[in-house]
Amino acid sequence: VGELRAWRARATGPVGFVPTMGALHAGHAALIARARAECASVVVSIFVNPTQFNDATDLAAYPQPLQADLGLCRATGADAVWLPDRGELYADGYHYRVVEDDLANILEGASRPGHFSGVLTVVLKLLLALEPDCAYFGEKDWQQLQLVRGMAQAFFLRTAIIACPTVRDADGLALSSRNARLSPAGRRQAAQFPRLLRAAADAETARSELEAAGFLVDYVADRDNRRLAAIIHEGVRLIDNLMTND
Ligand code: PAF
Repeated sequence: VGELRAWRARATGPVGFVPTMGALHAGHAALIARARAECASVVVSIFVNPTQFNDATDLAAYPQPLQADLGLCRATGADAVWLPDRGELYADGYHYRVVEDDLANILEGASRPGHFSGVLTVVLKLLLALEPDCAYFGEKDWQQLQLVRGMAQAFFLRTAIIACPTVRDADGLALSSRNARLSPAGRRQAAQFPRLLRAAADAETARSELEAAGFLVDYVADRDNRRLAAIIHEGVRLIDNLMTND
């Protein structure tokens, strides 16, 4: 953090920040490109944050292709990559944590207890350590984005939280590092997820059509002109959301 802050003190002009857990794909590249277009300096962090995983096997299975990630950061024009040290970031042993007690308990939060406390706590630490002018988050993690925005407001953070549209494969599936865990047939079938979500008249119909297509549905909910959903497909959790009035 000392080294990062020394770098930050030398940076001139607005600093843009893209926090990630690595296994970078075109969705991350779009966030970095947006930061590049809007800021004088761009920092990407890569940190597989243990406190946001409520399932140890999910954490252990998380890919960490560091060299490929650094290559993508370089190619997309990042100026610096921050690889936080786990011991330094959690020197307090995670005794201090951010708790949001409303939105964090439903949808993703209902199925993944403690997940959003882990996310908010690490994002707060990253933002306070770097003090970027802007931080970029993908709309794919819609609930995360709302919670980070709410936290930034609640704690008077100086960083502007910038939302970036979900990047999708040609068949419509939202990009996610988890997609790589699907079999080729499972990956083809997964394209039905956004299609059925969009086509259904209401959340209940979307749920039954997703189930009929063979997916295990965790939730489908219509909220604030968005349809949000999570499914488990071949043991892989996939989430998505889209506007319901477009
Ligand atoms: O969206 C992610 O990749 C993570 O939740 C984040 C924001 C980097 C925090 O670990």
